[in-house]
Amino acid sequence: MKLLGIVLCVAFLALQAKSAQAVCGYESCHETKSNMVNIHLVPHSHDDVGWLKTVDQYYYGHRNNIQHAGVQYIIDTVISELIKNPDRRFIQVETSFFSKWWDEQSETMRAIVKKLVDEGRLQFINGAWSMNDEAAVNYQSVIDQFTVGLKFLDDTFGVCGRPRVGWQIDPFGHSREQASIYAQMGFDGEFFSRMDHNDKGRRMNDLALEMIWDASESMSQVKLFTGLLYTFYWDTPGFCFDVHCSDDPIIDSDSYDNNVKSRVDGFIAYAAEVAAKFRTNHIMIPMGGDFQYEDAEVNYKNMDKLIKYVNERQSSGSKYNIIYSTPTCYLNSVHKSVQSYPNKTLDFFPYGSDTNSFWTGYYTSRPTQKRFERDGNHILQVAKQLSAFAELSSAEQKEDLEYLREIMGVMQHHDAITGTEKQHVSDDYDRILYDAILGGVNTARDGLRKLTNLPNGEFESCLQLNISQCAFTKDGADNVVVTVYNPLAHTTKQYVRVPVKNENYQVTDDKGRVVASELLPVPTEVLALEFRDQDTQHELVFKATVDKIASYYIKKVDSKESSTAVRIISQPKTNAETYDDGETTVQTSLIKLVLDNKTGLLKRVEMNGVSENIEQSYGLYRTYDSGAYVFRQYNQGDFVIQEDGVEFTVYEGALVKEVHQRFSDYISQVIRISEDKPYVEFEWLVGPIPVEEDFGTEVVTIFSSEIASEGVFYTDSNGRELIRREKNQREDFTPELAVQPTSGNYYPITSRIALQDSKKRLAILNDRAQGGSSMKDGQIELMLHRRLVRDDGYGVGEALNEEKYGQPLIARGKVFLILNAADESTAAEREAEKEFHLPLWKFFSKNSGSTTAAAKSVPSFDDFPKSVHLLTLEPFNDDEILLRVENFKDHIEGKVVSFNIRPIFDYLNGVEIRETTLDGNLPLSDMKQFKFHAEGSGVRGSEPEYYTSSHKPLSANQTQDAAEFAVTLYPMQIRTFIIKH
Ligand SMILES: *[C@@H]1O[C@H](CO)[C@@H](O)[C@H](O)[C@H]1NC(C)=O
Ligand SMILES: *[C@@H]1O[C@H](CO)[C@@H](O)[C@H](O)[C@H]1NC(C)=O
Ligand SMILES: *[C@@H]1O[C@H](CO)[C@@H](O)[C@H](O)[C@H]1NC(C)=O
Ligand SMILES: [Zn+2]
Repeated sequence: MKLLGIVLCVAFLALQAKSAQAVCGYESCHETKSNMVNIHLVPHSHDDVGWLKTVDQYYYGHRNNIQHAGVQYIIDTVISELIKNPDRRFIQVETSFFSKWWDEQSETMRAIVKKLVDEGRLQFINGAWSMNDEAAVNYQSVIDQFTVGLKFLDDTFGVCGRPRVGWQIDPFGHSREQASIYAQMGFDGEFFSRMDHNDKGRRMNDLALEMIWDASESMSQVKLFTGLLYTFYWDTPGFCFDVHCSDDPIIDSDSYDNNVKSRVDGFIAYAAEVAAKFRTNHIMIPMGGDFQYEDAEVNYKNMDKLIKYVNERQSSGSKYNIIYSTPTCYLNSVHKSVQSYPNKTLDFFPYGSDTNSFWTGYYTSRPTQKRFERDGNHILQVAKQLSAFAELSSAEQKEDLEYLREIMGVMQHHDAITGTEKQHVSDDYDRILYDAILGGVNTARDGLRKLTNLPNGEFESCLQLNISQCAFTKDGADNVVVTVYNPLAHTTKQYVRVPVKNENYQVTDDKGRVVASELLPVPTEVLALEFRDQDTQHELVFKATVDKIASYYIKKVDSKESSTAVRIISQPKTNAETYDDGETTVQTSLIKLVLDNKTGLLKRVEMNGVSENIEQSYGLYRTYDSGAYVFRQYNQGDFVIQEDGVEFTVYEGALVKEVHQRFSDYISQVIRISEDKPYVEFEWLVGPIPVEEDFGTEVVTIFSSEIASEGVFYTDSNGRELIRREKNQREDFTPELAVQPTSGNYYPITSRIALQDSKKRLAILNDRAQGGSSMKDGQIELMLHRRLVRDDGYGVGEALNEEKYGQPLIARGKVFLILNAADESTAAEREAEKEFHLPLWKFFSKNSGSTTAAAKSVPSFDDFPKSVHLLTLEPFNDDEILLRVENFKDHIEGKVVSFNIRPIFDYLNGVEIRETTLDGNLPLSDMKQFKFHAEGSGVRGSEPEYYTSSHKPLSANQTQDAAEFAVTLYPMQIRTFIIKH
């Protein structure tokens, strides 16, 4: 250890001596040669934040019997190799791993690394907490996880630590919203390596592997240079110089084995092949792969030689120039080369790696983990807002919140929220997310103790309300206070459900007024869950009206003053002789549902002045070699939709009407409509799914209408803009769908899928990411749950066959239906989507009769225009709050809105406010982004072009007029502010 100290010290002095010439960013890129093919050699390591091993197992190099991988050693050895030769470069991608490593380093080592960063030798790219998935993630969580990662880099390294390009080399398909987020962060471009094989083939021929992505239909300047790597991100064939590989090293001594000539010949031949497919005289050759560089000397020693001998040939006329580089430096050269590129407007889903392999199973895999991640985001937003309002500042409160932010960053990883990790890794994600959620719940509690009149309130959260379990009310709800928190900007009216026994209760609000309530029975199938250990068989339901915080008081009463009774109607028993072709009608003042007495299925919906025959049921795919990644039908006939035999019972309250339906031993649901709510809710319960020895089962919910959608449907991109899909079509190529016609038409549904004709529009919204499609006109299907018996061969090495509580996994969730006239605005869908994503969070306390006034009030955002979403409000630095506002309506639904944020600024005791890029870390006034020339957009200039902010960044202080705090938002625009207080 002592010796290492001396070595480091010497290295440090050597670095010190050079510091005068320190430059980072584009200025630190190596010179290129204009008359040659410049080969940008990019050393990198792809380090999954959990996959076959857990996050910590990967970091520490634990359980190397599963996979040999230790990220701490990768960073250790890369740093020592970078010190040895100032020409060498490395890119660090996953900030979660880097920050963990950084925390363990000495001051001396940190100073060394800082120098490497300041000189552009170690460059951060992407820089988010993890390399997030792009199909199953919600934009709010992607923005959050970039904010966390880029903030760490900014706090630690300043401007030299700021990534300039996106690096999404492994995710299984690419979303337009991800590109939009990069553009809004001021990134100059992004690179990735997975694309449908036919798309890639065509792009190879057309020199279209690089393009300009027009990443928003609503916003004009949201364009991003996007490049596909020539081969996969793994090593150049034959040139993997890693300890994990067995390609030949470069032997340049007097040895009989000297292979310099053949190795250089081989490399140049490959470079020529690559160069033929790109538009400039620059090519990028990644040198790395999963968890490579654990003994970086092997890699760098050989790359040094490769560079030396390739360049040596220039003296004998070779036109190949090779340099150590990074994606950032490659992009800089491309930008300087001033070329024109084709446009891209939709996205890269689904990803088909061959005609039998569409990676569409992972849109649904591990449905309960996908939902749990949403719970994590929900409490994260609640805890952030409450921390900011209550000015929570203890070390523990800050740590708890930061931990939750970080774990949510981990959950976005492309083997976490995707469900493509091994079972023990999934269990570990559950463990850390559960821990982090508890911290978030505690933070929220501390905030509420300051912000409500219950300074000693318990404010317990119940994480199993989805199966009607809450420890706080298991023995009764007498004298219980339910405090609800609304994370949205605008006052909301939502139904609150509290698990109780069959007792009489009365609910009153903050002002002592009685609030109408009723008791509804918990479905038999939920009561029958073996792991449900409480005997509360009912739910007390009432409607809460909440600006930001409201409390409701529950007490036990005599039957006469209690909640209204619920009427029970059972389906008439039918048999072959007494054929019953009748109907059962269930309605609220907004919605009418009609069920078929005989089949037991929903058959018609009437709402918003529209009536449509909609049959809703469940379908089963029987699949042979589907896996965690791929949804793969064996035989197209192996799909059945249940057409009858459904038993149902109707429960009619004054507020809420429910139809409890039982489809089979393992599928049941509640169809629910509630007074004043403009949607129909379907709460499904699926599992344990039976499988055969050789066949798995994949369960979909399916809505069949007579809407003449003509093969067209719409799906959301990460919960934001909608993308038009056309069955059997792609934007840029002809897909091969003969083998997998359904899977090849599946798309990720993160919040919504819709279809319409000239008269009617049907939209289905969900509560977690799922795969979905429209295989027949008027029909929408969403995959809810999958139980499989085989691995699909893409690395995870396990069948997706989840068990919980000693039996195959049972999942529960909700989808929502909105039927409307086609010429009506889809704004109602947007508003519902926000409510489903961030509903009221419920906190439970004992009613202590306390009347202490709250220590601090909470501001109202109600006068913000209706289409403004409070996307983020959180503590940023000790004296800074981050505020993000979004106009969540698109260019068809919404309009430009203006409002003033001075009242919020004052509430937060603001002294100064500045506007930043989307991630919060770069002053918007400093943003200077590469602009590339699009083919067909007029004459190309000769000089490189740039974008700066398209609006004047807001910047003001407390002495200035309120007018300086005016904010204008175009449809879909997000603006980010840092308020110093
Ligand atoms: C259909 O079922 C409802 C109860 O769910 C019942 O009131 C009605 O009479 C039935 N219709 C016929 C024709 O049997
Ligand atoms: C590409 O997009 C630009 C606008 O960004 C437009 O001017 C141009 O015509 C488009 N090119 C083609 C070939 O459609
Ligand atoms: C506030 O802003 C105004 C206008 O830019 C400037 O003149 C003034 O010095 C600022 N005050 C403080 C305290 O920064
Ligand atoms: Zn990966």
